[in-house]
Amino acid sequence: MKQIVRDKWSSKAGFVLAAAGSAVGLGNIWKFPYSVGVNGGGAYVALYLLFLVIIGMPLMLAAITLGRKTQLSVFGAYKSIDKRWSFVGALAVICGFVILAFYSAVGGWVLYYFKNAVTGRLNTTDPTVLAGIFTDMMNSPKILIFYQLIFMLMTIMIVIKGIKKGIESSSKIMMPALFILLIIIAIRSVTLKGSMEGIKFLLVPDFSKITMDVAKNAMGQVFFSLSIGMGVMITYGSYLGKEENLLSTAVSIPILDTLAALIAGFATIPAVFALGFEAGEGPGLMFITLPAVFASMPMGQLFCIAFFLLVIFAALTSSMSMLEICVSYFVDERNKDRKKATLTIGALIFLLGIPASLSLVEGSGFRLGSLTFFDAYDKLSANILLTTGAFLLSIFVAWVVTTKEAVKEIESSGVEFKLANVWSFLLKYIVPVGVFIILVNSYKDFIVSILQ
Ligand code: TRP
Repeated sequence: MKQIVRDKWSSKAGFVLAAAGSAVGLGNIWKFPYSVGVNGGGAYVALYLLFLVIIGMPLMLAAITLGRKTQLSVFGAYKSIDKRWSFVGALAVICGFVILAFYSAVGGWVLYYFKNAVTGRLNTTDPTVLAGIFTDMMNSPKILIFYQLIFMLMTIMIVIKGIKKGIESSSKIMMPALFILLIIIAIRSVTLKGSMEGIKFLLVPDFSKITMDVAKNAMGQVFFSLSIGMGVMITYGSYLGKEENLLSTAVSIPILDTLAALIAGFATIPAVFALGFEAGEGPGLMFITLPAVFASMPMGQLFCIAFFLLVIFAALTSSMSMLEICVSYFVDERNKDRKKATLTIGALIFLLGIPASLSLVEGSGFRLGSLTFFDAYDKLSANILLTTGAFLLSIFVAWVVTTKEAVKEIESSGVEFKLANVWSFLLKYIVPVGVFIILVNSYKDFIVSILQ
């Protein structure tokens, strides 16, 4: 066997920060709040939390354990245990392409908003003006593509520098800063006059709002937000030393991630109600609402600039994890040159992302059936590819690796896994069955909407 000396994380904290850096991103700050709005509020939040605990956390532990056990990135991890499962690695690479293609579009929006924050253009609480800035951006192919390109180039540059330097050093400062800033914004948002309605909207579940669609979106969001289902956590786990405690890691990352999402929810939704925006606005929600919150704060412009800057970093620590998965496949499995592979793949993803961006321009005609390309990528990645990846991960670790072996791996660092039985039960039965029900529905819906 080829023996490669692998990078290890220089510290456990480095790994937790990097994994949390992958998890915490646009999914938390941009997607979660607007999904709460679109999917009817508290009931969606409650379902999200339920799925997080019974499905997301068990899968997080499964992924990290698989990575550390095999000491290989996603493709190799599956292959080394059972050759027939290599296709899951391929699925992960495809998934990375699709997610990053539209993720980079949103990353571009954030860059553009950062520029607008600096020039002071966002300095207003007027909903019409703010909505106008967003719509103008959506209808300008030049702006959309230019900023998407810049975002992709930034991601490429970080990945070319290699895993440790790029990932570890940047998340150490930026992540805590982002948390602090989000908390400040949330405090401002919930103290605005009229925010109570929004707080209720977030916290009081109206269970009659739970439909198959809402459940599907909530589960897709859990995977998307935790970076589960395309091998990021397997790959990152493979860099962990045998002495590390996997349990605390598998719990702390989802908790950090969910805190970020909830705080972002509290930063956005109460302000939506207080300042007269529309909760069901969709992908523009954060971009339209938060500038108004900043404008109603002392030193608002400064906060606004800092916010968009930190969101850029959060988005980059996520986007580089996706690109890393695609690149490491071509480097580890196909012996490609790292730099060349990164550039080529980055360029391909950018090209794939162009129709996603342009599909948002009114009347552009970039549609797949009833969906814009943007929505199609979003649904295809979160509801189909990630959910499939998560389903296969649970089956693989529960039944092929076996939970018994997995528990051995977890306990090899000397910790006692007190909830081993609960985890095994969840991973063997609850997770695959729960995910499968949603999955069947997602396939059906996706096919229907493409054929329309
Ligand atoms: N979790 C990230 C976010 O919330 C997005 C992300 C990064 C991701 N890597 C991933 C999603 C891998 C799915 C799979 O923004």
